[in-house]
Amino acid sequence: MGRMEDAVFLKEFVRMADDAWHMGWHESNGGNLSYRIREDEIRGVEDSFDPGEWKDIGTGVKGLTGEYFLVTGSGKHFRNISHDPADSLGVIEIDETGERYRQVWGYKNGGRPTSELYSHLMNHEVRKSIDEKCRVVYHNHPSNVIALSHILPLDPVVFTKELWGIMTEVPIVIPKGIGVLPWIVPGSRELGEATVKQIEKYDAVIWAYHGMFITGRDFDQAFGTAHAVEKAAGILMAQISSGSKKLGGITKDQFKQLDRAYDLGMAEEYM
Ligand code: 13P
Ligand code: ZN
Repeated sequence: MGRMEDAVFLKEFVRMADDAWHMGWHESNGGNLSYRIREDEIRGVEDSFDPGEWKDIGTGVKGLTGEYFLVTGSGKHFRNISHDPADSLGVIEIDETGERYRQVWGYKNGGRPTSELYSHLMNHEVRKSIDEKCRVVYHNHPSNVIALSHILPLDPVVFTKELWGIMTEVPIVIPKGIGVLPWIVPGSRELGEATVKQIEKYDAVIWAYHGMFITGRDFDQAFGTAHAVEKAAGILMAQISSGSKKLGGITKDQFKQLDRAYDLGMAEEYM
């Protein structure tokens, strides 16, 4: 039986966290990341678990009973994750009612899972029910996406149209579009519930004046979505700041060609 520190999923988690830190998306303790651990991965490391007390989640996640998650700790800095994973991260187990969790590894100097645990678990639950392979939930604070939320109307149709239209890769990465929510208190149940409603439709949601919330099958998909959307938001900010109107842009007919060529299932309302 292996140690948690040697587990491939922990190494992939830490690499994504480190890359995201270097992208500038995680000032101070900003952002959080969680991974729904596969059964075979748990079997490889469970000998090193040391279960703590059961605690109330504050919401019911029946669809996640018996699941284990690797989760960033509240108040922990992404900058420090690779330096000492067992301090910044923890593994939690969900009980048979879906209403309680206990820590089984990590947070070694004290600590608890992210304050956005509601949002992470509620969204893992709905994503798992739609796509069993979806295992990563990620929240970050990227500058250009936040800046755009101060400039564009907080409407998924407007954001999707603008982001799709500025860079060809965007509709390939988020063919269902992107959700947008108004400002809601961070870490609140209300934010989790509002996000769930959007995550039923979109793989990524913008939290106005705050950041982005993303789901993915794996770390590459979650990181890639974050990167593509933030890069497109940066190009859009540059175009808006230049004061120059767009001269051309991708036409509706070209979007349709892209949709056919890559079999994306793009919704026509955003073209
Ligand atoms: P945590 O440190 O509790 O994860 O909170 C960071 C954050 O970005 C809240 O939205
Ligand atoms: Zn945040």
